[in-house]
Amino acid sequence: MKTPNSIICLVLFLGLLIKSKPISSASLESGFYGSTCPLVEIIVRKVVTNAILQDLGVGAGLIRMHFHDCFVRGCDASILLDSTPGNPAEKDSVVNNPSLRQKAFELIDQAKAEIEAACPQTVSCADILAFAARDSTCSLGGISYAVPAGRRDGRVSLKDEPIQNLPGPSLNLSQLQGNFARKGLSVDDVVTLSGAHSVGRSHCSSFSTRLYLFNTTTSQDPSLDPNFANDLKTKCPSPTNNPNPTVPLDFSSPYRLDTNYYRNLQYSRGLLTSDQTLMSSPSTVGMVSNLARDGRVWGDKFASAMVRMGLIEVLTGNAGEIRKNCRVVN
Ligand code: HEM
Ligand SMILES: *[C@@H]1O[C@H](CO)[C@@H](O)[C@H](O)[C@H]1NC(C)=O
Ligand SMILES: *[C@@H]1O[C@H](CO)[C@@H](O)[C@H](O)[C@H]1NC(C)=O
Repeated sequence: MKTPNSIICLVLFLGLLIKSKPISSASLESGFYGSTCPLVEIIVRKVVTNAILQDLGVGAGLIRMHFHDCFVRGCDASILLDSTPGNPAEKDSVVNNPSLRQKAFELIDQAKAEIEAACPQTVSCADILAFAARDSTCSLGGISYAVPAGRRDGRVSLKDEPIQNLPGPSLNLSQLQGNFARKGLSVDDVVTLSGAHSVGRSHCSSFSTRLYLFNTTTSQDPSLDPNFANDLKTKCPSPTNNPNPTVPLDFSSPYRLDTNYYRNLQYSRGLLTSDQTLMSSPSTVGMVSNLARDGRVWGDKFASAMVRMGLIEVLTGNAGEIRKNCRVVN
């Protein structure tokens, strides 16, 4: 297990401060809290770094949580709202529960509490989540980028919406492309952002249909390396996912955000159908081989794709609110 690169991230982050080149995209801008809450990004980074030292998985959890926030009602922290009597919320969708990590929700609570103490009712939960996903990306992959901020928090979260908006693990390439296009993202973004599956875990239920085609123990997805399939069957012994353990999305370096994800695809070792399908068309095969070859190219593309994802349908200005507690509307 490799240790996270927190020191390098800190240095790069200070470098960004010194350069202080505010970039702005749409109506968000980096350094948005420079005068109203100057320590906010330092606080988030400290909380994330400490949590990742205890459990590398929480970093993967935060990157996925930001994605699941942005694809459902935009990046408005709707993923963080708790269900209330009469209103089951996004986090209780089968897409999110139990696979989003409790520790990631608790980390946001902790960061929010410290930020409220320093600058009450100033920083949105949606921005805290965007910062935390960026800091996780840096700790796990040494990839750093400035986060345009100024998002406001939404007041609505509905349990039915994640499944209508988030792509499922059995989608093929054209379905993924269509899903991302609905959020203004390209097929290039599909390929680049799927590289997030270089860290973290998946429950067997997300891919076991590939191992046990038609519920037989003998036939399997032909796009899956047979040796890899046998290995997975020892870890996921039940076609009915009972029990339903987890396995790493990237067996070769499960805690490192890197381009091994793309090399796995070249060896038919993508875990999900939605991963291996990137090898199903000549144009994406070309993208995969470029990214597999060059970690710097992928890192730069991943950083800018994360920024683009973070801009989806954001609330700004007087829309929405700044929540006091990320789990409940004001
Ligand atoms: C392209 C379409 C995508 C599909 C179909 C997809 C699907 C999935 C599935 C099924 C899991 C495993 C859930 C489980 O069973 O526990 C997962 C995990 C994960 N996904 Fe994706 N995902 C996609 C795109 C993304 C994007 C765009 C990101 C972020 C940029 C992302 C980040 C992650 C991370 C980090 C994990 C591991 C989470 C953890 O360990 O807690 N995914 N994804
Ligand atoms: C992808 O899946 C859709 C829906 O099942 C299907 O209509 C389409 O033909 C598939 N595309 C490819 C390239 O397999
Ligand atoms: C496999 O079995 C499960 C549980 O009995 C069932 O829900 C599913 O529809 C079956 N799948 C196929 C392809 O027969």
